[in-house]
Amino acid sequence: MKAFNDLADFSSDEIAALLELALRLEQHPEPEALRGKVLSLLFLSPSLRTLASFQAAMTRLGGGSFVISPEMSIHGIETRPGIVMDGAAAEHIREAVPVIASYGDAIGIRAFAQRQNLEFDMAETEFTALTDLIHTPYINMESAMNHPCQSLADWKTMDDLGMPATGGKFVLSWAYHPRALPLAVPASTLHMAAKRGMDVTVLRPEGFELPDAIMQKARAAADESGGSIVESEDRVEAMEGAHVIYAKSWSSTKHYGDKLSDQKLREELLDWCVDEPWFDNARDDCRFMHCLPVRRGVVVSERVLDGPRSIVIAEARNRMFAQMAVLHQMLGTQS
Ligand code: CP
Repeated sequence: MKAFNDLADFSSDEIAALLELALRLEQHPEPEALRGKVLSLLFLSPSLRTLASFQAAMTRLGGGSFVISPEMSIHGIETRPGIVMDGAAAEHIREAVPVIASYGDAIGIRAFAQRQNLEFDMAETEFTALTDLIHTPYINMESAMNHPCQSLADWKTMDDLGMPATGGKFVLSWAYHPRALPLAVPASTLHMAAKRGMDVTVLRPEGFELPDAIMQKARAAADESGGSIVESEDRVEAMEGAHVIYAKSWSSTKHYGDKLSDQKLREELLDWCVDEPWFDNARDDCRFMHCLPVRRGVVVSERVLDGPRSIVIAEARNRMFAQMAVLHQMLGTQS
Protein backbone atom coordinates (compact mmCIF):
# COMPACT_ATOMS: atom_id res chain seq x y z
CA MET A 1 0.00 0.00 0.00
CA LYS A 2 1.55 3.30 -1.11
CA ALA A 3 -1.08 5.63 0.32
CA PHE A 4 -3.97 5.53 2.75
CA ASN A 5 -5.75 8.68 1.72
CA ASP A 6 -9.42 7.92 1.13
CA LEU A 7 -11.58 4.82 1.71
CA ALA A 8 -12.93 5.44 -1.80
CA ASP A 9 -9.53 4.30 -3.16
CA PHE A 10 -10.17 0.79 -1.80
CA SER A 11 -12.58 -1.91 -2.95
CA SER A 12 -15.05 -3.40 -0.50
CA ASP A 13 -12.90 -6.57 -0.42
CA GLU A 14 -9.79 -4.52 0.41
CA ILE A 15 -11.61 -2.76 3.24
CA ALA A 16 -12.91 -6.10 4.52
CA ALA A 17 -9.29 -7.39 4.53
CA LEU A 18 -8.13 -4.33 6.51
CA LEU A 19 -10.94 -4.79 9.05
CA GLU A 20 -10.15 -8.49 9.37
CA LEU A 21 -6.49 -7.64 9.96
CA ALA A 22 -7.42 -4.96 12.53
CA LEU A 23 -9.47 -7.52 14.48
CA ARG A 24 -6.68 -10.11 14.20
CA LEU A 25 -4.10 -7.65 15.53
CA GLU A 26 -6.45 -6.72 18.39
CA GLN A 27 -6.89 -10.38 19.37
CA HIS A 28 -3.42 -11.69 18.46
CA PRO A 29 -0.75 -9.00 18.88
CA GLU A 30 2.30 -9.08 16.57
CA PRO A 31 4.94 -7.15 18.55
CA GLU A 32 7.70 -7.89 15.99
CA ALA A 33 5.79 -7.20 12.77
CA LEU A 34 7.31 -3.74 12.11
CA ARG A 35 10.62 -4.09 13.98
CA GLY A 36 13.06 -1.43 12.83
CA LYS A 37 10.42 0.56 10.93
CA VAL A 38 9.87 4.25 11.60
CA LEU A 39 6.74 6.33 11.06
CA SER A 40 7.13 10.11 10.72
CA LEU A 41 4.12 12.04 12.03
CA LEU A 42 3.61 15.62 10.85
CA PHE A 43 0.83 17.51 12.63
CA LEU A 44 0.09 20.91 11.11
CA SER A 45 -3.23 20.86 13.04
CA PRO A 46 -3.97 19.79 16.66
CA SER A 47 -4.78 16.27 17.83
CA LEU A 48 -5.10 13.96 20.81
CA ARG A 49 -6.42 10.63 19.45
CA THR A 50 -4.63 10.58 16.11
CA LEU A 51 -1.30 11.51 17.63
CA ALA A 52 -1.49 9.04 20.52
CA SER A 53 -3.06 6.16 18.57
CA PHE A 54 -0.46 6.26 15.78
CA GLN A 55 2.39 6.25 18.28
CA ALA A 56 0.76 3.41 20.23
CA ALA A 57 0.06 1.48 17.01
CA MET A 58 3.71 1.65 15.89
CA THR A 59 4.97 0.65 19.35
CA ARG A 60 2.57 -2.31 19.55
CA LEU A 61 3.86 -3.53 16.17
CA GLY A 62 7.51 -3.23 17.25
CA GLY A 63 8.36 -0.09 15.29
CA GLY A 64 8.91 3.50 16.33
CA SER A 65 7.61 6.95 15.48
CA PHE A 66 8.39 10.61 15.95
CA VAL A 67 6.15 13.67 15.94
CA ILE A 68 6.75 17.10 14.45
CA SER A 69 4.30 19.99 14.93
CA PRO A 70 4.62 23.78 14.76
CA GLU A 71 4.03 24.00 18.55
CA MET A 72 7.32 22.19 19.22
CA SER A 73 10.62 24.00 19.55
CA ILE A 74 11.33 23.79 15.84
CA HIS A 75 12.20 26.63 13.48
CA GLY A 76 9.20 28.69 12.43
CA ILE A 77 7.77 27.12 9.27
CA GLU A 78 6.69 29.19 6.28
CA THR A 79 3.96 27.57 4.20
CA ARG A 80 3.21 30.25 1.56
CA PRO A 81 4.56 29.47 -1.90
CA GLY A 82 6.84 31.95 -3.68
CA ILE A 83 7.53 34.02 -0.56
CA VAL A 84 10.72 35.98 0.20
CA MET A 85 11.55 34.66 3.66
CA ASP A 86 12.70 37.86 5.34
CA GLY A 87 10.23 37.53 8.26
CA ALA A 88 10.16 35.35 11.39
CA ALA A 89 9.99 31.91 9.72
CA ALA A 90 13.41 30.30 9.20
CA GLU A 91 12.37 27.16 7.33
CA HIS A 92 10.03 26.50 4.40
CA ILE A 93 7.60 23.60 4.30
CA ARG A 94 9.12 22.64 0.92
CA GLU A 95 12.31 21.54 2.67
CA ALA A 96 10.79 20.56 6.04
CA VAL A 97 8.36 17.94 4.67
CA PRO A 98 10.83 15.94 2.54
CA VAL A 99 13.40 16.05 5.37
CA ILE A 100 10.85 14.73 7.91
CA ALA A 101 9.71 12.08 5.42
CA SER A 102 13.30 10.99 4.76
CA TYR A 103 13.73 9.87 8.39
CA GLY A 104 10.85 7.39 8.21
CA ASP A 105 9.59 4.49 6.11
CA ALA A 106 6.17 6.17 5.86
CA ILE A 107 4.71 9.51 6.89
CA GLY A 108 1.38 10.53 8.39
CA ILE A 109 0.25 14.08 7.66
CA ARG A 110 -2.52 16.16 9.26
CA ALA A 111 -3.52 19.49 7.74
CA PHE A 112 -7.05 20.75 8.39
CA ALA A 113 -9.06 22.76 5.88
CA GLN A 114 -8.24 26.45 5.62
CA ARG A 115 -12.02 27.15 5.52
CA GLN A 116 -11.75 30.27 3.39
CA ASN A 117 -12.61 28.95 -0.05
CA LEU A 118 -14.76 25.85 -0.58
CA GLU A 119 -13.30 25.01 -4.01
CA PHE A 120 -9.74 25.24 -2.64
CA ASP A 121 -10.61 22.87 0.21
CA MET A 122 -12.71 20.50 -1.93
CA ALA A 123 -9.72 20.11 -4.29
CA GLU A 124 -7.50 19.13 -1.30
CA THR A 125 -5.09 21.79 -2.55
CA GLU A 126 -3.01 22.08 0.62
CA PHE A 127 -2.77 18.34 1.37
CA THR A 128 -1.84 17.50 -2.22
CA ALA A 129 0.85 20.21 -2.20
CA LEU A 130 2.37 18.43 0.84
CA THR A 131 2.17 14.88 -0.51
CA ASP A 132 3.64 16.08 -3.83
CA LEU A 133 6.84 16.83 -1.87
CA ILE A 134 7.45 13.24 -0.75
CA HIS A 135 8.21 9.83 -2.21
CA THR A 136 7.57 7.63 0.85
CA PRO A 137 4.17 5.98 1.48
CA TYR A 138 1.82 8.34 3.29
CA ILE A 139 -1.27 8.30 5.48
CA ASN A 140 -3.93 10.99 5.56
CA MET A 141 -4.38 11.80 9.26
CA GLU A 142 -7.13 14.33 8.35
CA SER A 143 -7.09 16.69 5.44
CA ALA A 144 -9.60 19.31 4.30
CA MET A 145 -12.24 16.81 3.21
CA ASN A 146 -11.10 13.41 4.45
CA HIS A 147 -10.44 11.50 7.64
CA PRO A 148 -10.05 7.88 6.44
CA CYS A 149 -8.48 6.59 9.68
CA GLN A 150 -11.51 7.75 11.66
CA SER A 151 -13.86 6.17 9.13
CA LEU A 152 -12.07 2.81 9.14
CA ALA A 153 -12.20 2.78 12.97
CA ASP A 154 -15.90 3.72 12.94
CA TRP A 155 -16.64 0.93 10.46
CA LYS A 156 -14.84 -1.54 12.77
CA THR A 157 -16.75 -0.23 15.79
CA MET A 158 -20.08 -0.92 14.10
CA ASP A 159 -18.87 -4.38 13.02
CA ASP A 160 -17.72 -5.17 16.58
CA LEU A 161 -21.24 -4.41 17.82
CA GLY A 162 -22.85 -6.55 15.13
CA MET A 163 -24.60 -3.51 13.69
CA PRO A 164 -26.24 -4.39 10.36
CA ALA A 165 -24.70 -3.10 7.14
CA THR A 166 -27.49 -3.64 4.59
CA GLY A 167 -30.72 -2.50 6.21
CA GLY A 168 -28.96 -0.62 9.00
CA LYS A 169 -30.22 2.95 9.39
CA PHE A 170 -27.43 5.48 9.93
CA VAL A 171 -28.26 9.11 10.75
CA LEU A 172 -25.44 11.60 10.19
CA SER A 173 -26.62 14.66 12.09
CA TRP A 174 -25.32 18.21 12.17
CA ALA A 175 -25.01 19.46 15.75
CA TYR A 176 -24.52 22.90 17.24
CA HIS A 177 -20.99 24.08 18.03
CA PRO A 178 -19.92 27.68 18.64
CA ARG A 179 -17.29 27.51 15.88
CA ALA A 180 -17.40 26.73 12.17
CA LEU A 181 -15.69 23.33 11.93
CA PRO A 182 -14.26 21.49 8.89
CA LEU A 183 -16.21 19.14 6.61
CA ALA A 184 -13.65 16.30 6.71
CA VAL A 185 -15.41 14.09 9.27
CA PRO A 186 -18.97 14.45 7.92
CA ALA A 187 -17.74 13.89 4.35
CA SER A 188 -15.74 10.78 5.32
CA THR A 189 -18.44 9.43 7.62
CA LEU A 190 -21.18 9.80 5.02
CA HIS A 191 -19.09 7.95 2.43
CA MET A 192 -18.11 5.23 4.92
CA ALA A 193 -21.70 4.49 5.96
CA ALA A 194 -22.82 4.45 2.32
CA LYS A 195 -19.96 2.14 1.33
CA ARG A 196 -20.86 -0.14 4.25
CA GLY A 197 -24.28 -0.51 2.59
CA MET A 198 -26.33 1.38 5.18
CA ASP A 199 -29.45 3.48 4.65
CA VAL A 200 -28.08 6.91 5.45
CA THR A 201 -30.04 10.02 6.37
CA VAL A 202 -28.14 13.30 6.45
CA LEU A 203 -29.99 15.40 9.04
CA ARG A 204 -29.03 19.05 8.80
CA PRO A 205 -30.61 22.50 9.03
CA GLU A 206 -30.95 24.76 6.01
CA GLY A 207 -27.63 26.36 5.09
CA PHE A 208 -25.61 23.32 6.23
CA GLU A 209 -26.18 21.08 3.20
CA LEU A 210 -23.08 19.08 2.31
CA PRO A 211 -21.52 20.03 -1.06
CA ASP A 212 -22.93 18.29 -4.15
CA ALA A 213 -19.65 16.53 -4.92
CA ILE A 214 -19.62 14.95 -1.44
CA MET A 215 -23.25 13.83 -1.79
CA GLN A 216 -22.61 12.43 -5.29
CA LYS A 217 -19.55 10.47 -4.12
CA ALA A 218 -21.59 8.94 -1.29
CA ARG A 219 -24.51 8.16 -3.62
CA ALA A 220 -22.14 6.32 -5.97
CA ALA A 221 -20.83 4.27 -3.02
CA ALA A 222 -24.41 3.52 -1.88
CA ASP A 223 -25.42 2.43 -5.40
CA GLU A 224 -22.53 -0.06 -5.42
CA SER A 225 -23.13 -1.42 -1.91
CA GLY A 226 -26.93 -1.58 -1.92
CA GLY A 227 -27.26 1.30 0.55
CA SER A 228 -29.16 4.57 0.15
CA ILE A 229 -28.84 8.29 0.95
CA VAL A 230 -31.54 10.80 1.81
CA GLU A 231 -31.41 14.30 3.29
CA SER A 232 -33.77 15.76 5.87
CA GLU A 233 -34.28 18.74 8.16
CA ASP A 234 -36.90 16.83 10.16
CA ARG A 235 -35.43 15.23 13.27
CA VAL A 236 -38.43 12.99 14.02
CA GLU A 237 -38.58 11.65 10.46
CA ALA A 238 -34.80 11.14 10.33
CA MET A 239 -34.56 9.25 13.62
CA GLU A 240 -37.45 6.85 12.87
CA GLY A 241 -36.06 3.32 13.32
CA ALA A 242 -32.43 4.50 13.44
CA HIS A 243 -29.69 2.05 14.48
CA VAL A 244 -27.17 4.83 15.04
CA ILE A 245 -26.87 8.60 15.12
CA TYR A 246 -23.45 10.05 14.31
CA ALA A 247 -23.32 13.67 15.48
CA LYS A 248 -20.89 16.22 14.09
CA SER A 249 -20.88 19.95 13.64
CA TRP A 250 -19.64 21.49 10.42
CA SER A 251 -19.38 24.86 8.70
CA SER A 252 -22.29 26.38 6.85
CA THR A 253 -21.69 25.61 3.19
CA LYS A 254 -23.97 28.51 2.26
CA HIS A 255 -21.58 30.92 4.02
CA TYR A 256 -18.29 28.99 3.70
CA GLY A 257 -15.39 31.23 4.68
CA ASP A 258 -17.73 33.96 5.95
CA LYS A 259 -17.45 33.60 9.75
CA LEU A 260 -19.97 36.31 10.62
CA SER A 261 -22.76 34.96 8.41
CA ASP A 262 -22.04 31.41 9.56
CA GLN A 263 -22.19 32.60 13.19
CA LYS A 264 -25.49 34.38 12.61
CA LEU A 265 -27.02 31.26 11.11
CA ARG A 266 -25.76 28.85 13.77
CA GLU A 267 -26.70 30.96 16.77
CA GLU A 268 -30.35 30.18 15.96
CA LEU A 269 -29.61 26.46 16.19
CA LEU A 270 -28.62 25.94 19.82
CA ASP A 271 -31.29 23.22 20.17
CA TRP A 272 -29.28 20.97 17.79
CA CYS A 273 -27.75 19.31 20.87
CA VAL A 274 -28.37 15.55 20.75
CA ASP A 275 -30.42 14.56 23.79
CA GLU A 276 -32.53 11.61 24.93
CA PRO A 277 -35.83 12.86 23.35
CA TRP A 278 -34.10 12.64 19.94
CA PHE A 279 -34.25 8.84 20.36
CA ASP A 280 -38.03 8.65 21.03
CA ASN A 281 -38.83 6.91 17.74
CA ALA A 282 -35.41 5.37 17.08
CA ARG A 283 -34.69 1.73 17.83
CA ASP A 284 -34.41 1.08 21.58
CA ASP A 285 -30.77 0.07 21.09
CA CYS A 286 -29.92 3.08 18.89
CA ARG A 287 -26.28 4.07 19.45
CA PHE A 288 -24.60 7.46 19.66
CA MET A 289 -21.34 8.00 17.76
CA HIS A 290 -18.93 10.95 17.60
CA CYS A 291 -15.30 11.16 16.49
CA LEU A 292 -14.26 13.26 19.54
CA PRO A 293 -13.31 15.74 20.85
CA VAL A 294 -16.89 16.68 21.74
CA ARG A 295 -18.33 19.58 23.73
CA ARG A 296 -20.58 18.28 26.54
CA GLY A 297 -23.94 19.99 26.82
CA VAL A 298 -23.35 21.71 23.48
CA VAL A 299 -23.10 18.98 20.81
CA VAL A 300 -24.60 16.23 22.99
CA SER A 301 -26.14 16.04 26.46
CA GLU A 302 -24.15 14.53 29.28
CA ARG A 303 -26.80 11.83 29.84
CA VAL A 304 -26.46 10.56 26.26
CA LEU A 305 -22.66 10.81 26.22
CA ASP A 306 -22.28 9.01 29.56
CA GLY A 307 -25.18 6.62 28.96
CA PRO A 308 -25.39 3.15 27.39
CA ARG A 309 -26.05 4.45 23.87
CA SER A 310 -22.64 6.09 23.61
CA ILE A 311 -19.84 4.18 21.85
CA VAL A 312 -17.41 7.08 21.52
CA ILE A 313 -14.64 5.46 23.60
CA ALA A 314 -14.81 2.27 21.52
CA GLU A 315 -14.50 4.39 18.36
CA ALA A 316 -11.43 6.15 19.74
CA ARG A 317 -9.81 2.86 20.84
CA ASN A 318 -10.47 1.32 17.43
CA ARG A 319 -8.42 4.10 15.86
CA MET A 320 -5.36 2.25 17.16
CA PHE A 321 -6.34 -1.18 15.75
CA ALA A 322 -7.52 0.24 12.41
CA GLN A 323 -4.24 2.13 12.02
CA MET A 324 -2.24 -0.96 13.04
CA ALA A 325 -3.86 -2.74 10.10
CA VAL A 326 -3.00 0.10 7.72
CA LEU A 327 0.61 0.25 8.97
CA HIS A 328 0.94 -3.55 8.80
CA GLN A 329 -0.16 -3.51 5.15
CA MET A 330 1.95 -0.46 4.31
CA LEU A 331 5.19 -1.40 6.07
CA GLY A 332 4.97 -5.15 6.77
CA THR A 333 7.09 -7.68 4.91
CA GLN A 334 4.28 -8.43 2.46
CA SER A 335 3.82 -4.76 1.50
N1 CP B 1 -11.08 12.11 16.09
C1 CP B 1 -9.84 12.64 16.00
O1 CP B 1 -9.24 12.66 14.92
O2 CP B 1 -9.35 13.11 17.18
P1 CP B 1 -8.07 14.05 17.31
O3 CP B 1 -8.40 15.35 16.61
O4 CP B 1 -7.88 14.22 18.79
O5 CP B 1 -6.90 13.38 16.67
